[in-house]
Amino acid sequence: MSQNVSFYRCPVCGNIIGLIEGNAEHIMCCGKPMEKMVANSTDAAQEKHVPYVERVEDELLVRVGEVEHPMEKDHYIEWIAQVSENRTTRVRLYPEQSTETRFPYIPGSTIYAYCNKHGLWMKEV
Ligand SMILES: [Fe+2]
Repeated sequence: MSQNVSFYRCPVCGNIIGLIEGNAEHIMCCGKPMEKMVANSTDAAQEKHVPYVERVEDELLVRVGEVEHPMEKDHYIEWIAQVSENRTTRVRLYPEQSTETRFPYIPGSTIYAYCNKHGLWMKEV
């Protein structure tokens, strides 16, 4: 399914942008092109980063991961997003919080989670 947003990161300062439409080829940060983040490509524990998704009636109960990811000051899940064909919802998280988040149940949507140390992760619904 075509998705309406992709995520880019500056290799120098770590700025992150969500591209709504078009291509990021000419978008620069710190004098360098932004790099497209490829989900699930970091060498880190899958079970702590791949979002765990459970359907509860018309909602999705989401947690990051099967073994909950740490939510410490210097290592935590910064945000979780649900991206579908016509909608993007992003929830900002903070240290000490739980990663548990609810979204509407949208078949074909993708749940993304961003770890400040281990990058972008995703799970298809
Ligand atoms: Fe992590």
